[in-house]
Amino acid sequence: MSSLHLLLPLALLPLLAACSGSSGAANAAAGGSKQSALDRQLRSLIAARGLTGDPAAGRELPGIDDPLAQLGKRLFFTKALGGQFDSSCASCHHPNLGGGDDLVLPTGVDAEVPHLLGPGRRQAFGTPGFDGGPTVPRNSPTTFNLGLYDSSMFWDSRVESLGKTPGMNGGDGLGIDTPDSFGFGQADPAAGDNLVMAQARFPVTSRDEMKGYFFEFGSWNDVIRDHLAARMGGYGVGAGEISDSWLPYFRGAYDSLGSAEELITYENISRAIAEYQRSQVFVDNPWFDYVKGADFAISEAAKRGAVLFYSDPAAGGAGCYQCHTGDFFTDEQHYTLAMPQVGRGKGDGHLNGPEDYGRFYETGHPDHKFAFRTPNLLNVAVTGPWNHCGSYTTLEAVIYHHCQPVDAVANYDFNQLPPEVQTTYTLQVTNDALNQLLIYRASGVKTIQDVPVTPQGLADLVEFLHTLTDPCVLDPDCMEPWVQRDHGFDQHLLLAHDQGGEEL
Ligand code: HEC
Ligand code: HEC
Repeated sequence: MSSLHLLLPLALLPLLAACSGSSGAANAAAGGSKQSALDRQLRSLIAARGLTGDPAAGRELPGIDDPLAQLGKRLFFTKALGGQFDSSCASCHHPNLGGGDDLVLPTGVDAEVPHLLGPGRRQAFGTPGFDGGPTVPRNSPTTFNLGLYDSSMFWDSRVESLGKTPGMNGGDGLGIDTPDSFGFGQADPAAGDNLVMAQARFPVTSRDEMKGYFFEFGSWNDVIRDHLAARMGGYGVGAGEISDSWLPYFRGAYDSLGSAEELITYENISRAIAEYQRSQVFVDNPWFDYVKGADFAISEAAKRGAVLFYSDPAAGGAGCYQCHTGDFFTDEQHYTLAMPQVGRGKGDGHLNGPEDYGRFYETGHPDHKFAFRTPNLLNVAVTGPWNHCGSYTTLEAVIYHHCQPVDAVANYDFNQLPPEVQTTYTLQVTNDALNQLLIYRASGVKTIQDVPVTPQGLADLVEFLHTLTDPCVLDPDCMEPWVQRDHGFDQHLLLAHDQGGEEL
């Protein structure tokens, strides 16, 4: 399929079959009852895959009006949790940017203008480690629908539930393994109530995301957290570092008259941040309306795309559901896809820098080299750029890579990246990952298979993925309850100058 030219306008090729070699998946519909034949085929696939259209069913998730979620919103937006006061969670996970930052790769601390977000946010010249490009080696995932994960957090699942009980978000009492655990597979006794709370203990300890180079230099994670909590509470080592008083907010949210030392602990900070994030449930989309019976909720093209998504390659489909499983579109397992590796990398491999071994770095398991967790696909149209390092900036390209990875890497279009993203070693280190993928294929380790794909099939799959967008996430008025406007001493967050500088 190397002759396939993705840059051709898709509209010029309407007559191509959806998937060449298709034994009928998308061609089954024919004649006058065209639509109903397609609907019948899709509805039988929906039944076969056990879909319900209700991924949040049976879960206990807070609303944004929950007092803890309200406190968490304030904490999520304050740069006071950044060691050097210049980076907040929202700097990389803004609700009006799809719960991410709209960047290939993020820059956290030492941004040129700390309150500017999105394309154009960049590291200030001359600050530590400056090379002109982004400082964080992986793409910011969305914070939407985090309460639906049961197994893990992060691209490499380094925060992982030991129980993985369905419906519990890691809160099954069986323990959560984190980077603070004493060994792989060991519970971290301080992890907290669920996966999202366990995760919220780590960004503040990351030098490039929030801590900065000099704040608590060389300190243990708990020393960093305790210092930040003391800062927020105005006591001990943090006394006098900020002028705002957070105690009334903590008293209100935790319904207690306790002192700052008692209430403003990092445990209580991370619980509130987690409840705010867990309130970001955005699952009202046209696809789920269709699954629940509304035949006209999605377009014909989206239906054809869904048939490809839910059909096996042997039946002319693309087999996407094999990993993007169920109503949450993920099996929470790890696979090697050899997506082009851009940016600084995690410092793995012989080049000691621009590689990223992903899950392998956590487990050392021979099947995990360059493997990343299957991301969920809800609202995926608004969470780009895509993959663990953001190296695809269109859905067409990231889907095409799944179908024809060798061709996709060989013809990778560097022009889709902003010029500052580091790419010197991209071909070299991506080929390492690609060779690993081919070894896995040959030895039967589960990974992507070559799937014949046409421009029409790609366009249909893209159309299908667009039906996974909850209209709320496109509407600033609908998202307003999740945005903190009163930042105290913080400045309001703006889109970067490259995008006009309007308020987010
Ligand atoms: C500089 C940008 C940056 C900042 C600031 C930041 N994050 Fe992130 N966040 C990331 C990146 C990059 C990842 C992926 C890292 C990885 O998987 O190795 C991530 C991952 C996550 C995840 C995992 C999501 C998933 O699907 O597994 C959560 C949850 C999260 N961040 C929440 C937060 C919270 C809460 C804060 C503030 C305490 C925060 N982040 C601050 C960039 C940032
Ligand atoms: C073998 C498992 C597997 C199959 C099959 C699979 N995917 Fe993926 N998908 C993944 C993994 C793993 C990633 C993340 C890879 C990375 O970041 O390097 C991913 C990433 C994605 C992304 C980017 C999401 C994001 O948030 O960055 C999209 C979109 C996507 N897949 C769609 C599809 C479609 C459409 C199909 C069918 C053509 C498909 N996938 C088939 C495992 C799979």
